[in-house]
Amino acid sequence: TLPESCDFTVFGGTGDLALRKLLPALYHRDLEGQLPGDARILGVSRSVLDDEGWREEVRTALTTHVAPDDLDTETVDRFLGRLRHLMLDAEQPDHWHRFHALLKDRPRAEQTVRVFYLAVAPSLFGAISRRLDEIGVVDERARVVLEKPIGHDLASAQAVNDAVGHVFDESQIFRIDHYLGKESVQNLLVTRFANAFLEPLWNSRWVDHVQITVAESLGVGDRGGYYDHAGAMRDMVQNHLLQLLCLVAMEPPSHVGRETVRDEKLKVLQALKPMTPADVDRDTVRGRYSAGLVDGAPVASYVDDLGRSAQHAGSSRTETFVALRTEVQNWRWAGVPFYLRTGKRMDRRASEIIVVFKAPPHHMFPNSEGVTEPNRLHIQVQPDEGMRLHLTAKEPGPGGIRLRPVSLDLSYATTFEQRLPDAYERLLMDVIKGNPTLFMRRDEVEAAWTWVEPILTRWATSPDQPLRYPAGTSGPIAATTLLERDGRSWQESD
Ligand code: BG6
Repeated sequence: TLPESCDFTVFGGTGDLALRKLLPALYHRDLEGQLPGDARILGVSRSVLDDEGWREEVRTALTTHVAPDDLDTETVDRFLGRLRHLMLDAEQPDHWHRFHALLKDRPRAEQTVRVFYLAVAPSLFGAISRRLDEIGVVDERARVVLEKPIGHDLASAQAVNDAVGHVFDESQIFRIDHYLGKESVQNLLVTRFANAFLEPLWNSRWVDHVQITVAESLGVGDRGGYYDHAGAMRDMVQNHLLQLLCLVAMEPPSHVGRETVRDEKLKVLQALKPMTPADVDRDTVRGRYSAGLVDGAPVASYVDDLGRSAQHAGSSRTETFVALRTEVQNWRWAGVPFYLRTGKRMDRRASEIIVVFKAPPHHMFPNSEGVTEPNRLHIQVQPDEGMRLHLTAKEPGPGGIRLRPVSLDLSYATTFEQRLPDAYERLLMDVIKGNPTLFMRRDEVEAAWTWVEPILTRWATSPDQPLRYPAGTSGPIAATTLLERDGRSWQESD
């Protein structure tokens, strides 16, 4: 339920995430009249800015990231009126006292739901939580939001979770994975569990394999300082791709409850086949983009991109592309490969899940063998959200039976009139309302690290460098071979 009053604090209030995603998302919710009337949005950062200075930055950000039709002057003014900025150096105790004073300086301060969104490096999560506790602003209504990646490996994730858990109860901790807020991702649950016809086929008996691709055409941009320590495995696979895999593979929960969905996702993570060093060598591919062409325009290599924002670019071994093969070792999925791939500077921006079904058990139409393509359910997460079911049909005509691949298409844009809200809009409202269903629980994050860590360890000890792929392509050839070896191929969008 929506609280009557709320103070939403963003640590890292002048950062890229805040300006590009969080504030536009909160603005949209304000536009829909969904923020509590007296909600305030407090930006905390090291920038020397007063309220007016921050409001101007946010005004510019809204102009850039909100569609012109949604920029309503009255709402913009009301929204900017909610903003306060506090310059805070975490090492200075009196700065924390100023933050305390700011939180208390409002009507009904004691009944206000306080959200602390930590859009800062995970190494600061513990220290900030401790300070919040020390200044006495964490009550049972308070909530903390942690951006991914939580830690760098299992041990550091546990340390972060311990430190934050020392101050906040697990029910107050919202670990955000914005993929779970995407409309098409939530629709995956509805497609699977609000329809009867798919679920009987959704298993190793009928499914040949599953492909999950998150391709980006953008490079690392000016986030090199962060990215070079993370790489595609920590930045994308450990969280977004594994979460998508969980939603595809999980068992139906009894209902959509705070714990039920997360319980089922956890079981999938725990069932992922652990990788030995030999498995890592055989079943994973890491790549890194070199210079190339994206949409006809020349773009620089990863190392050159990095040179602009990080030191030691020359010695970096960071991967910007990962492809891998895994299996979910349980009754439903035994033996079904799940192929995952993600990369920066690929030939397109597309996130998609493709479930490829087995061939019919018997070919009864003459010459149909080799002509029919397997049925595929293609879920387009973004862009052009939708779903496509590939079938075989008879080509019309008086002659014999000729088979042709066809598809049933669902496009969100033509089926639904309303604008698709950004993932953060849904998730930030869930935080304000206190609903953790679409957030990662501690055990999930740690189970994901447990599975990922042997891969990272093997890569770190291997003398091999990531394979090069020219920017604007679909990644290293080895990613293609990974499937060809199994007699399969990546299904490109059609
Ligand atoms: C973020 C990653 O979590 O997700 C970025 O840190 C990546 O590197 C982004 O670009 C992709 O999100 P989306 O919503 O644009 O697919």
